[in-house]
Amino acid sequence: MKAAKRILGVAVGALMLGASSVAADTIKVGIIGPFSGPFALQGKNFQAGVEAYMALNGKSVKGHDIEVIYRDLPAANPAQSRALAQELVVKEKVQYLGGVYFTPDAMAITPLLTQANTPLVIFNAATSAIMTQSPLVVRTSFTTAQTTTPLGKIAAERGVKKVISAVSDYGPGVDAEVAFKKAFEAAGGKVVEAIRMPLNTNDFSPIMQRVRDSGADAVFAFLPSGPTTLGFVKAYNETGLKQAGIKFFAPGDLTQESDLPALGDAAVGLLTTFHYAVSHDSPENKRFVEAATKAIGSADQLSFPAVGAYDGMHVIYKMIEATEGKQDAQKAVDAVKGLSWTSPRGPVSIDSETRHITENIYLREVVKGPDGKTYNKEIQTFPNQKDPGLATQ
Ligand code: PHB
Repeated sequence: MKAAKRILGVAVGALMLGASSVAADTIKVGIIGPFSGPFALQGKNFQAGVEAYMALNGKSVKGHDIEVIYRDLPAANPAQSRALAQELVVKEKVQYLGGVYFTPDAMAITPLLTQANTPLVIFNAATSAIMTQSPLVVRTSFTTAQTTTPLGKIAAERGVKKVISAVSDYGPGVDAEVAFKKAFEAAGGKVVEAIRMPLNTNDFSPIMQRVRDSGADAVFAFLPSGPTTLGFVKAYNETGLKQAGIKFFAPGDLTQESDLPALGDAAVGLLTTFHYAVSHDSPENKRFVEAATKAIGSADQLSFPAVGAYDGMHVIYKMIEATEGKQDAQKAVDAVKGLSWTSPRGPVSIDSETRHITENIYLREVVKGPDGKTYNKEIQTFPNQKDPGLATQ
């Protein structure tokens, strides 16, 4: 308890005093995400995924009502992330934490979990190493190593010999750079230059100049989805690299569906690998897209964070079922190890060792549909991919 006091501060006392005032039949789930600012659409997708899940599966589990409490974290900010998680645990008395868009924010929460007796179900943050920080983390999104590894082989198979990589200089970018290089060079290619861009870079024309000057046949890129990815792909299209025949390979963060209208016809032909496309053809996805569209208000705004959130709620519901509503974080996490189900993205399971999701990774091409709108079309499947990330470090 002493250690708990040190970590959670004076508010632990309030937690203990307040515990009996929590209605036994309401279980609170705290969701942290970017609900305002430049990444607000990503947070909106978290909320749409949560609401879609509750609309389709009910708002109670075994007689326990579920109450979701949202907290806004507009940009990567570890100190604020930790403070919000503490506030949710101590003041709001949530039994589960979920959400978290950016890696540094997830890293800042993991040290609190054991003392707080609270699992964290990550809906997005995609650096492999997060899972090693606490036994109470489960993840329903993807890692950049997982989405990127098949791409190295694909690029080589398509005749690409030399690649320049350009990634955001933080966890998921570094993981993507390492995983792509490993897979591409194993298939006979060569990464001739590796650029790491500061996370706040928004003028990409100097990067495009370096791509052109490198003599590479293709660029591989990762940036976190949002205004940054839109800016990067626009710069690739507008600085003439595409016309010059320099190919483009990236994980699907760079062609998220909500960015496609703004990218227009210039996006047609872009190849990406990812765990989810809004166009995925299955009855589960049809149901999901319908419910999530209703929640978010417009089909054009739907993107991958919604499916991470939807499946994250599935995991949380299973945890609540297994613990009969009692707060027992380890029992809750143990209960979902090895859990498998059919997600809107396809068949998935929680790896019992890493607690990260095993899933298909799809190669997709941006194509124009009969309605004139562009979308990510799945053209090849790499089934049952675990996270290869920790092995590539
Ligand atoms: C992350 O910070 O882990 C992150 C954010 C957005 C993405 C992928 C990874 O699209």
